[in-house]
Amino acid sequence: MKVTVVGTGYVGLVTGACLADMGNHVMCLDVDARKIEILNSGGIPIHEPGLDEVVRRNAAAGRLQFTTDIPAAVSHGTIQFIAVGTPPDEDGSADLQYVLAAARNIGRLATDYKLVVDKSTVPVGTADKVKAAIADELARRGLDLAFSVASNPEFLKEGAAVEDFMRPDRIVVGAEDERAVNLMRALYAPFQRTRDKLVVMDLRSAELTKYAANAMLATRISFMNELALLAEKMGADIELVRQGIGSDPRIGYHFLYAGAGYGGSCFPKDVKALIRTAADQGQGLKVLQAVEDANDAQKRVLVDKVVARFGADLNGKRFAIWGLAFKPQTDDMREATSRVVIAELLARGATVSVYDPVAMDEARRIFGDEPRIAYASGPMQAAAGAEALLIVTEWKEFRSPDFEGLKAALKTPVIFDGRNLYEPALVREFGLDYEAIGRPA
Ligand code: NAD
Ligand code: UGA
Repeated sequence: MKVTVVGTGYVGLVTGACLADMGNHVMCLDVDARKIEILNSGGIPIHEPGLDEVVRRNAAAGRLQFTTDIPAAVSHGTIQFIAVGTPPDEDGSADLQYVLAAARNIGRLATDYKLVVDKSTVPVGTADKVKAAIADELARRGLDLAFSVASNPEFLKEGAAVEDFMRPDRIVVGAEDERAVNLMRALYAPFQRTRDKLVVMDLRSAELTKYAANAMLATRISFMNELALLAEKMGADIELVRQGIGSDPRIGYHFLYAGAGYGGSCFPKDVKALIRTAADQGQGLKVLQAVEDANDAQKRVLVDKVVARFGADLNGKRFAIWGLAFKPQTDDMREATSRVVIAELLARGATVSVYDPVAMDEARRIFGDEPRIAYASGPMQAAAGAEALLIVTEWKEFRSPDFEGLKAALKTPVIFDGRNLYEPALVREFGLDYEAIGRPA
């Protein structure tokens, strides 16, 4: 099939590359000329395991193209995925300007039937707006052209995006006509060999499903984080509690890890957007509002612990930070807890030495030449001579550190672990103090 993907970010690039891998002819469009240039010269603009291989393989086979040429992209695909960003507006609602610009381009330039698929995360009712934008542009041209609009939200996780896309749990399709459903069924046939994973529904239910999924996952995390705070106060261990409740199949083990708050380009933004959507309908989402408030506080928990030990004035103290990305296996720092931790430490007069296996360039881009941030060449280099260590992201390479070396490197031998990487008793055997999330002090 001929497919166009509008927006070549995390979702668009993965979608385009994986669909090409199934034999489709895919054209990826982006307005960011730098991104397209990198892709056309054999590079990958993001860090995502396995993606470079799929991209190169399909580009070499001539099935995957990258362009900034809007007319060519609209003309190419019978199926036009919209996978552009939907960042939060000032009031928390999703900013639809990029989605609607993409839709208008299709209406402005299409000359044959198009199935326009919203893959971006968009509020309920967006498909109707996309439909109206296309119809409007067609009417302006005096064209009576058939088109369909479908909603196909994406559930991939960064750091496991290719794997998630290639082996989806489910493929949600919101549509209103059979032509759209049949095209989507045909496109996704190679991804559902073992069982029918297509869940077909109306457009609005599909749009709400995406927010419901992210809101549910964020809720689990915030609930565990609050329980962890309680566990600390009561002398209980959240790790044991996790195992105790996760064994109930109604609860399950996934997404039950307490930590220093959730970040990323999605949970924070989507929780806000769903709260906003509900408020516009005159409905408060009390549970979700609490989830958001709890997460804002949780991102400060590590610094609260630092202050409890060293006092609010951190002048003249340098802290080592391991992990800058919002989660391992990505260089994405959008809404990362590390950003809050660094800002709070600097605000109290401290300096920091930071290390992340892949997000150092991204950190430099974000922080510029801030003189109070030193970029270390490795984890032990960051720790050398620092007052104490804060762990913010659970990269594998932090899991078995040289504890003896750490004790010698730190001025005050204490680890503030925001991701519960170690057995508390083991760390203490090395003479280090260990303050984790929801684990016995
Ligand atoms: P991103 O910021 O990485 O990429 C978006 C891309 O769209 C950018 O490269 C931008 O230049 C491009 N763009 C903007 N306007 C355009 C236009 N008119 N024409 C062509 N290109 C245009 O965003 P992302 O992380 O891929 O997210 C995209 C959407 O998918 C969002 O709605 C997000 O909520 C959703 N989503 C993201 C993830 C994830 O893990 N990142 C997972 C599921 C869903
Ligand atoms: C999340 C969802 O998991 C995807 O299904 C969804 O498609 C995506 O958002 C999206 O809509 O964009 P992602 O943000 O890439 O994916 O990463 P997650 O693995 O979900 O992690 C999000 C945050 O939650 C991270 O900061 C992580 O550290 C935190 N987290 C995750 C916890 O604190 N505890 C957990 O048990 C799991």
